[in-house]
Amino acid sequence: MDNYKELISQMTFEEKAAVLTGGAALTTGGVERLGIPGIELSDGPHGVRRIDGQTRNIEGGDVCFPTASAVGATWNPELAYKAGAAIGRDCVEEGVDVLLAPGINMKRTPRSGRNFEYYSEDPVLSGHMGAAFINGVQSEGVGTSLKHFAVNSQESDRGSINAEVDERTLREYYLREFEIALKNSNPISVMCAYNKLNGIWCSENKYLLNDILKEEWGYDGLVVSDWGAVHDIAKALSAGLDLEMPKNANIEAQLRDGLEKGTVTMEDIDRALESVLKFDDAVKSMKRTGTPYDRKAQHEVAYEAASEAITLLKNDNDVLPVTKGKYKKIGVIGKTAQFPAFMGGGSSCVSLNRESVDIPLDYIKKYAGDDAEVTYLPEFAYGEDFMNNNGVGQVIQLARKSDLVIIFASDNFGWGESEAEEMDRQSLYFTNYISRSIEVAAENCKNVVVIMETGSAIIPYRWEKLVPCIVQMWYSGEAAGRAIADVLFGKVNPSGKLSETFMIKDRNDLDFPGDRVKLRYTEGLDVAYHYYDLHTDEIWYPFGHGLSYTTFKYSDLKLDKTECDSENTEIKVSFKIKNTGKVKGKEIAQLYVAPLDSVVYRPQKELKHFTKIELEPGEEKTIEFTLTNDDFCYYNVCLKDWHVESGEYNIMIGASSQDIKLSQKVFLFSDKDYTKTIRRGAMVLD
Ligand code: BGC
Repeated sequence: MDNYKELISQMTFEEKAAVLTGGAALTTGGVERLGIPGIELSDGPHGVRRIDGQTRNIEGGDVCFPTASAVGATWNPELAYKAGAAIGRDCVEEGVDVLLAPGINMKRTPRSGRNFEYYSEDPVLSGHMGAAFINGVQSEGVGTSLKHFAVNSQESDRGSINAEVDERTLREYYLREFEIALKNSNPISVMCAYNKLNGIWCSENKYLLNDILKEEWGYDGLVVSDWGAVHDIAKALSAGLDLEMPKNANIEAQLRDGLEKGTVTMEDIDRALESVLKFDDAVKSMKRTGTPYDRKAQHEVAYEAASEAITLLKNDNDVLPVTKGKYKKIGVIGKTAQFPAFMGGGSSCVSLNRESVDIPLDYIKKYAGDDAEVTYLPEFAYGEDFMNNNGVGQVIQLARKSDLVIIFASDNFGWGESEAEEMDRQSLYFTNYISRSIEVAAENCKNVVVIMETGSAIIPYRWEKLVPCIVQMWYSGEAAGRAIADVLFGKVNPSGKLSETFMIKDRNDLDFPGDRVKLRYTEGLDVAYHYYDLHTDEIWYPFGHGLSYTTFKYSDLKLDKTECDSENTEIKVSFKIKNTGKVKGKEIAQLYVAPLDSVVYRPQKELKHFTKIELEPGEEKTIEFTLTNDDFCYYNVCLKDWHVESGEYNIMIGASSQDIKLSQKVFLFSDKDYTKTIRRGAMVLD
């Protein structure tokens, strides 16, 4: 509106500069004289983080929800929405206008220290979960900031590294989740990343911020920098950035200098100002629901999300669930049974009270009641102490007298000792004394359950074949303790599935973490489960895997056509899932598309659709998806556009990426000329 231009024309240069940067660590700069407010921001993503003036975290009453990797494992966008809405209510309670979340960067390797803040290694899953979260938070009248745009897939040298990625990999993998999230939601802001992308800082990257985000995708919200990611504000504003955070005390002089040198124009400055003023208005006009705040109800949402995130990886001989009379002596081992690992470290730390955290051991004892005796061995976590005090001997002793041993395994004791922002993981194995304890427990008791409290994939090392039961608990927030006990005792039927591959050895072909200056993404599209589709012997548990206490049968795959004009693809797919077990359960069905005749290199198959359904014993439901050009295209770097090849494709329905239950082929044809560019349209390459 022209009011913005009017307002901008009344501003002094000093005031203009003040509005284009922060007023404080987590507040945007305002101008009192003109009624321009400072907007209150907070991290994110799994709860509100309050800080003191020095940006130190303070304890508070905020709720810690499951981290994004846990939410990703629910594969349930409705739950991501619900958690988002609850966090939005926490923001309202705390006077926060905009939550700096969600983070949806791709998990190129489990070594990245911040993977727990991201949903998945797959762009379709991440994009949809991110969009649902944004819609949830914003439904409560609180803004969001979709981050970190883009290719911030490691923490090492994040403020200096140059990510070298080819255009196709960028489009199909590292930008795709942002594109999907922005198509399905409208976050009030987008945060650019620290790193360089192909030689240019993301904060100054016109190709990224202006050409793709604003022009091609039509994003018209605020583009904000990550904290301290701007190196040259003049260049940044001319590339499409709108706001530098936090406060840059020298911004005025730097902009004057930029104007003199011609690296920025007054039009660029005014354009960015207009964007900030629109953002301020958008924040002010967001409707708050006025729902009275109820911390207990918030905790219940955190619990619900945690209980759907927990992923049962292995359950030989039905070791779980623990039912009445099944076990008489339960041994519980590990410090995190008492102090659960529920979040990672860094700016995402939620300001919560320790009293709000559910303790797994308390619930295990409560549920066991008089039915089984529970003996706890806490020393497990104290590395050297454990060894010095004959910890192995204690584990053996406990395992021998127990008919069930539950081992809580984690190197993180609540605040991100092993997985955190600004550092990558030193190791993908548990510390030796944890592995050793699992090993000896398994040698001395046949029923051992390992509960892994990690934010991202772990490598099992020596013990994986020895134990019959493995549960991935993730960092599942303050209510994880009750949720895990509910899963152990069958009060909740586990329904999480892996949103990232768990492998048996680390990839040594990846350039990671680079040479401190550059990081080459030479593996291209051979990333995540696409790589493991080609190296199945390296998979421990595949992308999409997760067990239940019931069983499901897939049947009756139907496609409404067997061939289709690729110019305008629309194929209706349906199939049935039946609960063939004895208890109610939830199943996540995944649809993958595999090109069979491609003349360009393509991943073996890609996830395109997914759904989570609940079924009573014996109940059967029909699932339907509609496939369009979006589900078949790849990015053609010559055309600079998305392209659907004619040819045959396999439509695969799986319970995981390695457990394909049903499949059927479809043929896409086209009469169109190759040279004709149609957005996401069809062109024939043969
Ligand atoms: C992080 C962002 C965060 C910001 C503000 C940065 O270091 O990368 O994710 O939102 O700090 O705390």
